[in-house]
Amino acid sequence: MTPPPHHRRGQPRPTEGSPFQQLRPSILPSHAALSLVLAGSLLLGCDVSSPPPTSAATVAAPVAPSPAPSTDPRETGKQIVAQAFSVLSSNLMTAIGRSGPSNALEFCSVNVAPIVATVANARGAEIRRASHKARNPANQASAAELEWIRNYQSQLAVTTNLVPLVVTNAAGRAEFVAPIILGNPLCLQCHGQPGSDIHPATLAVIDRLYPSDAARGFKLGDLRGLWRVTLPAP
Ligand code: HEC
Repeated sequence: MTPPPHHRRGQPRPTEGSPFQQLRPSILPSHAALSLVLAGSLLLGCDVSSPPPTSAATVAAPVAPSPAPSTDPRETGKQIVAQAFSVLSSNLMTAIGRSGPSNALEFCSVNVAPIVATVANARGAEIRRASHKARNPANQASAAELEWIRNYQSQLAVTTNLVPLVVTNAAGRAEFVAPIILGNPLCLQCHGQPGSDIHPATLAVIDRLYPSDAARGFKLGDLRGLWRVTLPAP
């Protein structure tokens, strides 16, 4: 695959002053904000495993480039997810501004992993997005992740108030696990029903980049996957 020409310029930048910061607090729940520009819909793209639903207030607020370290693993996890989300979003905004929304999907495929890794390295953490129906095979949920996912799915049948988990892994490191809900209709443009939600042109790019894609057929409100953050060693 030939990377899109802009991919080298998609370096993570400090989030302060990003135009997306003004949009972000309203962009997730509001259709009106999303209709501002078509790009708005696409920047939601790969980026946007929405932040943990139970911490909407925390994650909707602008994220300082270097949040004060917290000793509470839950707080640290939330901060790291919010930061990854924010950096991805501003990078996508930049890419779309430069080369238009049609490249957003290719941008995602090239840049998401390195951008997330940059945030993780800066925090001494590991960040992963896992899904039971993955687009990128690297994001396919493991057995343990599948168990969390099934658990969240059962909870989702009775409540939308899903609570992130903090668990200790085999190496003794704390892990923060937060559900990703497909909460915006625009996610459906790339993860909904082919033919009705996903435009044929978009589908063609998905099929080219991700021949084993399973991340389609989702409905609004479905569990899309998990953020999983292995927190820095204490
Ligand atoms: C422009 C198309 C597009 C839109 C719109 C879009 N995504 Fe994605 N999404 C992608 C691509 C491409 C990937 C694979 C990225 C990669 O290779 O790591 C992806 C991957 C993901 C992943 C990682 C798991 C996996 O399947 O690989 C999650 C979680 C996710 N998207 C959630 C969302 C949510 C939530 C929304 C709506 C807020 C959304 N996406 C909207 C294109 C899109």
